[in-house]
Amino acid sequence: MKDSDAKQTVDGKDVHPTPQLDQLEDGPWPSFVTGLKKLRDEGSDNNRKIMNDLLGQLNHSYEKRLGFWKGGTVSVFGYGGGIIPRFSEVADRFPESREFHTLRVMPPAGNHYDTDILRKFCDIWEEHGSGLIAFHGQSGDIMFQGCSTENTQKAFDALNKIGFDLGGAGPALRTAMSCVGHARCEQSCYDEVRAHRTIINKLLDEMHRPALPYKFKFKFSGCANDCVNAVHRADFAVIGTWRDEIKINQEKVKEHVAEKGRKYTIDTVVNMCPTRAISLNDDDTLEIDNPSCVRCMHCINVMTKALSPGDDRGVSIMIGGKRSLKIGDLMGIMVVPFMKLESDEDFEKLEEFAENVVEFFADNALEHERVGETIDRIGLPAFLDALDIDVDPNMVNHPRTSSYVRTDDFDTEAAKWFERKAREAGLQIGAD
Ligand code: HEM
Ligand code: SF4
Ligand code: SF4
Repeated sequence: MKDSDAKQTVDGKDVHPTPQLDQLEDGPWPSFVTGLKKLRDEGSDNNRKIMNDLLGQLNHSYEKRLGFWKGGTVSVFGYGGGIIPRFSEVADRFPESREFHTLRVMPPAGNHYDTDILRKFCDIWEEHGSGLIAFHGQSGDIMFQGCSTENTQKAFDALNKIGFDLGGAGPALRTAMSCVGHARCEQSCYDEVRAHRTIINKLLDEMHRPALPYKFKFKFSGCANDCVNAVHRADFAVIGTWRDEIKINQEKVKEHVAEKGRKYTIDTVVNMCPTRAISLNDDDTLEIDNPSCVRCMHCINVMTKALSPGDDRGVSIMIGGKRSLKIGDLMGIMVVPFMKLESDEDFEKLEEFAENVVEFFADNALEHERVGETIDRIGLPAFLDALDIDVDPNMVNHPRTSSYVRTDDFDTEAAKWFERKAREAGLQIGAD
């Protein structure tokens, strides 16, 4: 059926038939089509009209197998980015959604909202936009989708009045993300919200007036569970960790084993430790060889009551994570294995380091190159040298493939290594 063939009515009003889209509502999973239709059928009068034409155009696109949107330039006063413009190429047939721009708006650090703010968002967007809001886009922003060029400034002003600001787009500092963190999560190893706001507030100009060679992203996770995907999505990932021993509550270990069984505990905890650092004793207590533990969080996630991060907490910083661009996907390189982040001075140090890395990026990256690619091009030693960072054997380039030198008990470990090498070479040490 062609989208122009049939007439369809909802509540006595004509709507575009959407045969191609209707199929996408099949199946048990939530469908974006159902959401758009809900807004078309139950939204404010203005939102209904926009959604009807948007659905009409989308159906038309599916039929023709072509997109009919083009970009352009739309901005608000004083800003060089933050708005993603979309103009329809079939506006004669679908006039109500002829301009469908998106406002990228920075969410609060840790994504903490209250219902009052959420209601205000809805009211603002019902008045100035299409009613369609996405929490949160791939970029981490709240995406206010579907605004006319004329209303863009008005919508921004209203959002700004309640304390919100545009995020990043284009070759600029991008909207940062932090996990829900220490406000709600027992695994958190530092104040992600403070680290997030400290760095972004300092560098805000780089977000609103794009002048970098390409995008630059900061992400903050409270622990190695890395709920915001910092290590593979952020140019600058700050991830919480600890350097003393995992805390063990042996009573809770026994309760866990009594409830789940020894086999389950061995299968899901002991055998799953990537460095084989855990053993289950005969009396159902746990032993962890802390120098071997790589702080992966696995055992803590399984036995949440019995195990928790140590007390000497801080962060690791990884630089250069990104999806494919000039070279393939990269994980961040561990350049700061551990740093305390508690006192004002600690936060100042972090802020200064972040500024230096962004400055290095601005000065040394080629156009359309992420910092991970810059490092790949010039070599890690040159990067470390430029930032005045001492080489540390705990720095990790590629997980599980880099050489990893233990710094504790170094002499004993070194002696064992020399002995093994000598044995491999067929020599006897200490025989004479
Ligand atoms: C063939 C069609 C399209 C392609 C291939 C495409 C591709 C993409 C890609 C690759 C991204 C980046 C996603 C990321 O950040 O991970 C993106 C983002 C975006 N696209 Fe499209 N797009 C298409 C159609 C559209 C249409 C029709 C609209 C709106 C009318 C749209 C609006 C946006 C917006 C607002 C973003 C930013 C999302 C965010 O901030 O997370 N795109 N698109
Ligand atoms: S990254 Fe860690 S601290 Fe942050 S929300 Fe996830 S589990 Fe909690
Ligand atoms: S945190 Fe990971 S590496 Fe450390 S003991 Fe637990 S499972 Fe093993």
